[in-house]
Amino acid sequence: MAEEAVLGFLEKNEEIRDSGEFAAERSIDHNEIVNVIKSLHGFRYVDAEDIKRETWVLTDEGKTYATTGSPEVQLFLAIPPEGISKEDLQKKLDPSLFKIACAQAAKNKWVEMGKQLISKKVEHVDDKVKDLLIQVQQGRNIGSDEIKALKARKLIVPQTWKGYSLKKGPNYAPKRKKVVTDLTRDNFQSGEWKDLEFKEYNYSAKGQPLEGGNLHPLLKVRSQLKQIFLCMGFEEMPTNNFVESSFWNFDALFQPQQHPARDSHDTFFLETPSTTKELPEDYVPRVKQVHESGGYGSRGYAYDWKREEANKNLLRTHTTAVSSRMLYQLAQKPFAPKKYFSIDRVFRNEAVDRTHLAEFHQIEGLVCDRGLTLCDLIGVLHDFFSRLGMTKLKFKPAYNPYTEPSMEIFSYHEGFKKWVEVGNSGMFRPEMLQPMGLPEDVQVIAWGLSLERPTMILYGIDNIRDLFGHKVDLGLIKKNPICRLGID
Ligand code: PHE
Repeated sequence: MAEEAVLGFLEKNEEIRDSGEFAAERSIDHNEIVNVIKSLHGFRYVDAEDIKRETWVLTDEGKTYATTGSPEVQLFLAIPPEGISKEDLQKKLDPSLFKIACAQAAKNKWVEMGKQLISKKVEHVDDKVKDLLIQVQQGRNIGSDEIKALKARKLIVPQTWKGYSLKKGPNYAPKRKKVVTDLTRDNFQSGEWKDLEFKEYNYSAKGQPLEGGNLHPLLKVRSQLKQIFLCMGFEEMPTNNFVESSFWNFDALFQPQQHPARDSHDTFFLETPSTTKELPEDYVPRVKQVHESGGYGSRGYAYDWKREEANKNLLRTHTTAVSSRMLYQLAQKPFAPKKYFSIDRVFRNEAVDRTHLAEFHQIEGLVCDRGLTLCDLIGVLHDFFSRLGMTKLKFKPAYNPYTEPSMEIFSYHEGFKKWVEVGNSGMFRPEMLQPMGLPEDVQVIAWGLSLERPTMILYGIDNIRDLFGHKVDLGLIKKNPICRLGID
């Protein structure tokens, strides 16, 4: 209807000067006209120009008086010819209106405020306020003094009115042509295609958002860490086995078979297959010997080392299991220095809480070369951690069965204003390296840390279950920023 009115009017007339007046004359809602204008303008049926006007609209109070009448008139009408006491009159009126009603009626000299009685001074009054409010409501103009008075009483407020003036546009037609978006088989068969008008491509229309994959924060941080290791000249170790034998996870690392970490309370052992079939048979006796009676300058642990214990399959508890396999392989060839790293999943049979899960990721780095010292380890750690943005480091003596000396790594967190533990490190023991067959003067410096900890700090996540597992909010994964390690 609105569209027909606009196009029809322009067929016979040069222009529509004011969309507001046009709508009012035809009793069409102005918003409806505006929508039609926008659409017609888009297809260039019309040329439109903005017009703006300051108008007045009724406040809520103004709207009430436009229907119920002004308070002063309500008060006037409530006074009987013989007059009325203030108390009685008050009862007849809405309490919120009484004060203004009295003030206005007195100002208009309609009533006499006697000591005992309130009485009428005139016989009849007109509700000018109500009439004016109705006129404003209908969009009609009223005098400037009246506007001032209504505004002072907060019955009206200014509002900018927006409308359009219109002329025929380059594509003007008295009726909108139906444009089609697709050419169909039916169009061809019926011959209709000859008369069809096609919708133009809109190259600036926004397309559907693409639903691509989104990287999990752990993966983003992992790929950054990988970059750091690669920049430092490290090679990645193959970590694609979650199932490991106790041998590589513990025994090869000179971890005694009675060690509490080898208990099922701390480690997930496999039921099927419960044991491994393959261990390097030349190497196993050397591991047995170093555990039982030592060698290479060590006294060993002096206990009966059992093959069955070493055969047990488990879910690897640290990626150092991978490092031990790799170092053994390295020892089978003429020695060449190596820098290795890995970032992958490990499993521990732990109580789950806000900072612990039964599975997490470890980042591990190692350097294997002749004549390395603790200073080399400290130097590499400073290099590595400063690339993560951690420049202040402290080391604390620690214990690992497979490293000596061992150091916990602490970094000063500027945000938390305290030292936080960020990793563990050490020099692999000769009891681990020599039975593998590495030359006596070869040392290995190594360190490990979790991937979850820095990721949680970077992404401001304080409950690990919000980072990993079924409770993770996929919306957040889509919105999470890229990882910027080392950049504040
Ligand atoms: N494997 C150790 C851990 O689980 C980390 C570590 C790696 C320590 C290498 C020293 C050397 O925490």
